[in-house]
Amino acid sequence: MQDLLKRIENKDITVGVVGLGYVGLPLAVEFGNAGIRTIGIDVNVDRVEQLNQGENYIQDVKDEELKTLVEAGTFTATTDFSSIKHIDAICIAVPTPLSKTKDPDITYILSVNKELEKYVHKNLVVILESTTYPGTTRELIQPALEASGLKIGTDVFLLFSPERVDPGNPVFHTTNTPKVIGGVSENCLKMGMAVYGHVMDELVPVSSPEAAELTKLLENTFRSINIGLANEMAIMCSKLGVNVWEVIDAAATKPFGFMKFTPGPGLGGHCIPIDPHYLSWKMKTLNYKARFIELASEVNAAMPEYVVELVGSGLNKDAKSINGSNILLLGMAYKPDIDDVRESPALDVYALLEAKGAKVNFHDPYVSEIKFDSRMEQSVDLAMDKLMDYDCVVITTNHSEYDIGAIVENAKLVVDTRNASAHITSDKVIMLGAKQ
Ligand SMILES: NC(=O)c1ccc[n+]([C@@H]2O[C@H](COP(=O)([O-])OP(=O)(O)OC[C@H]3O[C@@H](n4cnc5c(N)ncnc54)[C@H](O)[C@@H]3O)[C@@H](O)[C@H]2O)c1
Repeated sequence: MQDLLKRIENKDITVGVVGLGYVGLPLAVEFGNAGIRTIGIDVNVDRVEQLNQGENYIQDVKDEELKTLVEAGTFTATTDFSSIKHIDAICIAVPTPLSKTKDPDITYILSVNKELEKYVHKNLVVILESTTYPGTTRELIQPALEASGLKIGTDVFLLFSPERVDPGNPVFHTTNTPKVIGGVSENCLKMGMAVYGHVMDELVPVSSPEAAELTKLLENTFRSINIGLANEMAIMCSKLGVNVWEVIDAAATKPFGFMKFTPGPGLGGHCIPIDPHYLSWKMKTLNYKARFIELASEVNAAMPEYVVELVGSGLNKDAKSINGSNILLLGMAYKPDIDDVRESPALDVYALLEAKGAKVNFHDPYVSEIKFDSRMEQSVDLAMDKLMDYDCVVITTNHSEYDIGAIVENAKLVVDTRNASAHITSDKVIMLGAKQ
């Protein structure tokens, strides 16, 4: 054990990262940047081939950094899990989605587990990063490691450390976001801290993997509930004829006890709409209903429908209906200036409008095409002289490159779900959360 610790401290180790997506690839690149040999493992053959040619596909990773690491041989990618045999510390960042019934889908973790069971060896540090329900690390991963007869805390070292990265955030990224970390034993924690100490500016040790698992779930449940409150406030303000954005900005001047959250067309991304359900599912197994989580989910999930109502009432003023109208959605990514459409509420708005008989197009500077059921739809050009062809333009995501002034000027009707047109006074605009 002391020998492994010394090797970690001397960077004389190979780190493995399983799952080279939004979380795993930036992490792998940071280990590489720290001068540590890094092997990325992914089941996606195309991604692995791309990476080995030095080609990047994640916005938060710098093309040049990846290329340099690949050329130097510091970072290699593979689909071959037997490389675990040559790895000293392995971080797992595979997807943890929900099933259709909103139960945790841990099949990706289980499939990595099978590989760990095959290739686990003495002096391996295993760190789960995928967001998951409390108990996963100890209940699922630990037995897979111990099946070999190796002992946790003396032969192999197991931890949970949630990834908190916020893709596209210009200030906080992998290394300067404090990293919470919880080990199954003191020795496990010591090993994990030594590994992450090479790449993270600040480590926040907690007493167990369960505490670390729950930290992540608390953070994202907190966001989901507060966004739910902002969304309900928007609906209430609209009924009262008051602008919710003004109210929120005024409340946010309070220097204590208030944190600003804003309404919108619903929740998006791989985290906030999903993670709280991992906790509520776990609590159901203990016969406890996580009421805040369920209520926030209900309010947030109804927002796309509410946006469609706003479109309907805007068209109605012109004696038109959604059925038969041409509608353009601006922004399909779930937040500005990124290319991620996972769980994006714009997808729901699109489907709901189409189900009501509208002809829907979208534009997104970061998303060239989207698969809807079995068909692909392409992003259309955003030509100002073509905006008049649409009965309504919906601002679903406020990408910073949108010239909102020009859009409002050239469109017949704008439904703004993001307060993007706050600076414009125009009776063409229907603002979510304001007097209609
Ligand atoms: N994206 C975020 O903003 C974010 C933030 C914090 C935490 N997380 C959590 O991190 C985890 C990973 O999310 P992500 O956004 O990076 O996902 P992602 O879909 O971007 O990437 C996952 C990668 O894992 C690969 N993969 C799937 N099954 C695999 C397997 N069995 N073995 C090896 N590779 C496999 C996929 O091919 C893909 O490249 C999730 O648990 C997520 O909740 C994500």
